[in-house]
Amino acid sequence: MGGMEFNKIFAAILVAGIAAMMAGFVAEKLTKPHKLKENAYPIEGVEVAGGGPKKEKLAEPVLALLAQADIARGQKVSKACAACHTFDKGGANGVGPNLWNLVGGKKQSVAGFSYSGVLNAQGGDVWSYAALNKFLWKPKKYAPGTKMNYVGLKKPEDRAAMIAWLRTLADSPKPLPSASQIAAEEAELAPAVEETVELAPSAH
Ligand code: HEC
Repeated sequence: MGGMEFNKIFAAILVAGIAAMMAGFVAEKLTKPHKLKENAYPIEGVEVAGGGPKKEKLAEPVLALLAQADIARGQKVSKACAACHTFDKGGANGVGPNLWNLVGGKKQSVAGFSYSGVLNAQGGDVWSYAALNKFLWKPKKYAPGTKMNYVGLKKPEDRAAMIAWLRTLADSPKPLPSASQIAAEEAELAPAVEETVELAPSAH
């Protein structure tokens, strides 16, 4: 094959390639509606991260925050609960049970309240700090089938403040979490937090 011939073939391939690229670009513009990503329905449990299968998200640990938590903020956050709960000693049950003396006590033990019965399904039958953190993060994930129709407290600072305030609602508040309880909670929940951070750039 002569040099001229080769050049012609090469030029033809180049032109064809550019044409194909442009056609593809135009086709994409025409067929893809704008903001496809924003309009797409989020599918429960599926993260659009593009980083391969993602580990299940867990609640951020909060036990280490309790000693310094903003108790007044907890009381403010409780307005989100007040439609269903009373917090005072001897307060009436509403849609949900009265929450006086809750921390460290038995789950589902308020007299006269008709529970779903599913709150013991994980984390034992006592409202430990760690159990409360997970429950308040996503009540329905912690206890599928719960009657508590509430989405949960997403921010770790809100959960810490809420739990710290709940702790004060007792004649003799329970001791704050011990160092070993804090470490146990972090060992269980913190690895997932690290992973989320790691995947964040590819999730853009
Ligand atoms: C729409 C009503 C509603 C809201 C809002 C609500 N709860 Fe509840 N809550 C319930 C019901 C109903 C139950 C009983 C759950 C069951 O039996 O499964 C419950 C149970 C609980 C329990 C377990 C009590 C026990 O005796 O074991 C805790 C703790 C709790 N809620 C805390 C909160 C906090 C804190 C908030 C606000 C951040 C909140 N709830 C918001 C309705 C609600």
